[in-house]
Amino acid sequence: MPNETPQKMLIVALLLCLVCSVLVSSAAVFLKPLQERNKELDMKKNILASADLLQEGADVEQLFQSVEPRVVEFATGEYADSIDPATFEQRAAAKNPQTSTAIPRTQDIARIGRRAKYGLVYLVRNERGGLKYIILPVHGKGLWSTMYGFIALQDDANTVAGITFYQQGETAGLGAEVSNPEWNAKWRQKQVYGEEGQPTLQVVKGTVEPTAPNAEHKVDGIAGATLTSRGVTNLVRYWLGSHGYGPYLSRIREGELNDLNVEGG
Ligand SMILES: Cc1cc2nc3c(=O)[nH]c(=O)nc-3n(C[C@H](O)[C@H](O)[C@H](O)COP(=O)(O)O)c2cc1C
Repeated sequence: MPNETPQKMLIVALLLCLVCSVLVSSAAVFLKPLQERNKELDMKKNILASADLLQEGADVEQLFQSVEPRVVEFATGEYADSIDPATFEQRAAAKNPQTSTAIPRTQDIARIGRRAKYGLVYLVRNERGGLKYIILPVHGKGLWSTMYGFIALQDDANTVAGITFYQQGETAGLGAEVSNPEWNAKWRQKQVYGEEGQPTLQVVKGTVEPTAPNAEHKVDGIAGATLTSRGVTNLVRYWLGSHGYGPYLSRIREGELNDLNVEGG
């Protein structure tokens, strides 16, 4: 058969497609564990960074050994130690109607629709075994995307130790500045709760003067990204509020869970 026949060309094209698809799919299969591993490592990095525990050049896995993941029941604010934090997937649980709850419209300021009935918390202890940091996963809508991050609080369950965002799809140079460590640093030492016990912490438009009234409850806005900034205010207020980790944090503030010097599990 001469080389230029339509049949031959078709066979060559089909064979080429087959070879390429085998190559692409085997690369996807073989690289999946590596991707999962990198994702997990990135998450651990962000958890550590939220409490400013990430050290340049240090081994992330080793640093993460000082972090104790636990599971909390949102409704009661109590630890749910029958759930293994190592296998609990909060994001997957939030999608399943059986393991999640719809957020009442009036409370859904983070615009996420549902949340899991249980949530992860990451505890860091001081030398005496007491609480040093409480790190909480948070998420909510920005302008274009759902932003996922961690907020770290000091042992008073009120003072911010830091915040990080590990996944978001806001505009580079504008809303995506939520992931900029320089902006994240502005959150440190801010106070979450106002006199009424509700979260009053907010990202404002412009810069906060240190002498301004309630400056401790205000974080500098991101220039040109007022809508993303508003999204951050709302997600922080939701997750630290009464429908989120509020009941758990209030138990810590009351000293009810403070001295739990036992490993979770
Ligand atoms: C291409 C484009 C991308 C934008 N991306 C964002 C964004 O990621 N976050 C945001 O809050 N605003 C973004 N904006 C601006 C908003 O539309 C809006 O003007 C802005 O949030 C108002 O903030 P300002 O009052 O600080 O200027 C974008 C605008 C344009 C034209």
